[in-house]
Amino acid sequence: PVPIIAIDGPSASGKGTVAQIVAQKLGFHFLDSGSLYRLVALTAINAGCALDDEITIAEKAKSLDVKFEQGKILLTGEDVTETIRQERIGTSASKISALPKVRDALTQRQRDFAKAPGLVADGRDMGSVIFPTAQTKIFLTASAEVRAERRYKQLITKGNSANLDDILKDIRDRDVRDSSRAVAPLKQQADALLLDTSDMTIETAVQFVLDAYLG
Ligand code: CDP
Repeated sequence: PVPIIAIDGPSASGKGTVAQIVAQKLGFHFLDSGSLYRLVALTAINAGCALDDEITIAEKAKSLDVKFEQGKILLTGEDVTETIRQERIGTSASKISALPKVRDALTQRQRDFAKAPGLVADGRDMGSVIFPTAQTKIFLTASAEVRAERRYKQLITKGNSANLDDILKDIRDRDVRDSSRAVAPLKQQADALLLDTSDMTIETAVQFVLDAYLG
């Protein structure tokens, strides 16, 4: 079987950055599953769908025309790499990701990323639902305060205005929504290693994951 490293964790924990570097170092494919939920959210918003219209949104999720090309994300040929990173898209993604039929519609698309020589998959349910037999499972987290600060710095660096208190509140709301939903709630699996990066550099976190995989 293709080796898979599943990295799950809460919003703004830095798991995307860590997962991407690990994938690069190993020469593995990389799945940013959150981007799929963001793409579905963007598609639903553009089509004027209500964000609780499960059937319609699941259909859109199934027929999503997306290409991942050299760090760029093309939706029906249009470059939406930056657009889907907006906070409003993240919040909408969090809402539509609670709909079971939408999650089902994305399952096979995610599994198709598992190709030789290997895959690093980043998300909420990589180790629990999508790749339950993954060799290496990591639950990567950090305190809400540290995550809020990381998101804040990210926004400021990109020239956006940001308010730390608002971000912290948003992160806490997102945590509650992601961990209390009925399907695929976010929580550390029994077979996942806990990686708390609150006081850790990216390099140290990357090394932890590599060590966990290489043994
Ligand atoms: O890091 P952040 O939470 O801002 O964004 P993300 O990882 O791109 O995910 C966006 C939203 O999609 C999250 O709030 C999750 O609710 C949802 N998601 C999910 O339900 N399952 C996944 N495997 C990945 C993301």
